[in-house]
Amino acid sequence: MEVGAEPSVARLPTGLAEFDRVLGISPDGTAGIVPGSVLLVGGEPGVGKSTLLLQAAGAWARRGARVLYVSSEESAEQIRLRAERLELGLPPELFLLAETNLQRIAEQARKIRPRVLLVDSVQMIFAPSVDGSPGSVSQMRRCGSELVMLAKSTSMSVVLVGHVTKDGQLAGPRLLEHLVDAVIYFEGERMHAARLVRAVKNRFGATLELGIFEMTGHGLRERSSVPEVGQGEACPGSVICPVIHGSRCLLAEIQALTATGFLGAAKRKSSGLDANRLAMIIAVLEQHAGLRLADRDIFAQVVGGMRVVEPASDLALLLAVAGAERRKSLESGVCAIGEVGLSGRLGGVTQMEQRLMEAARLGFGRVLVPPIVLPQRTKGVEPLVVRSVQEAMEHLG
Ligand code: TYD
Ligand code: MG
Repeated sequence: MEVGAEPSVARLPTGLAEFDRVLGISPDGTAGIVPGSVLLVGGEPGVGKSTLLLQAAGAWARRGARVLYVSSEESAEQIRLRAERLELGLPPELFLLAETNLQRIAEQARKIRPRVLLVDSVQMIFAPSVDGSPGSVSQMRRCGSELVMLAKSTSMSVVLVGHVTKDGQLAGPRLLEHLVDAVIYFEGERMHAARLVRAVKNRFGATLELGIFEMTGHGLRERSSVPEVGQGEACPGSVICPVIHGSRCLLAEIQALTATGFLGAAKRKSSGLDANRLAMIIAVLEQHAGLRLADRDIFAQVVGGMRVVEPASDLALLLAVAGAERRKSLESGVCAIGEVGLSGRLGGVTQMEQRLMEAARLGFGRVLVPPIVLPQRTKGVEPLVVRSVQEAMEHLG
């Protein structure tokens, strides 16, 4: 096999398309986990890692792949109750085990010979031959490397769950990142139902892919867009923008708020957006749109916990800030795409057709676009060409 080449073995899909795509897509279009690979799933406690992986385990098993789900944090009874709540129907190929001893986990795995072994969580298991309590550096290293060896020697896929906190505390799983083939993070805010799955490292796939789920009373449901986005009336300080994540397009809602601040000490805070980009947009608004923002506190964020780094989202951010300041909004059903240059001119965006189609699909029939050659096919959507920041500002009510 060439270095870096895809292994020829078929991937194992769960059938949860939002998860499979993040695991990786082969050139032939099949998505899912690669046999013999090791995946680390990180996320804050309570975000839904166990729920996602038990659902994935159930889905693999229903498709006939034998799965061993080991919980080191819950009793067999608790796992069964969760499986019931998730309506997994306990397929015969799904094996559940409550165990913290690495040796016994490996023994069971060798006996049962599953295609996928899930260990939830790696912080709560221990190798009896190693000093230190579960979760310690020495335990994590040993358990991690033994499970990697198990995967490589049996071509069983291994999925490890690791807890992380917002500030990267409990650095445990970080320790394992270099050992494993793929690292995906499961993100979400407690107050939002949206849960995002994102690859941060993937030897067998793209790291830009994003999977979207919604937490419901019966586990996670797949979503094709972030549930909170684009609901309700247009309002000042909120602008929708179609952004590209990996192989797909999603609508992002960018919000801004301006408030009285102190000259020389005005706050500029952003969440889910690049802070440098926000600073540049503010400067462009001052220079090319006549806004005076030097003593204004400015806050900007992306709704629903998404992160948006594409320059194509510049125009939406600019209109959100300007709209917040002027208390004006775009008409409802209008969204915006475009990169903003320092000259105040609007520029190039790739994959325009995909963006226009997604906007149309979610009810945004008119789209502010930069002056570029537009795709032939723009059915159901009317592009509104804007050349400069000033022209774009005219669309604020
Ligand atoms: P969990 O998967 O246990 O999180 P983690 O393993 O990352 O610590 O789930 C976290 C939360 O999800 C828990 O507070 C309850 C909630 N939840 C639901 O809302 N619906 C469900 O069907 C399940 C199983 C959990
Ligand atoms: Mg858990």
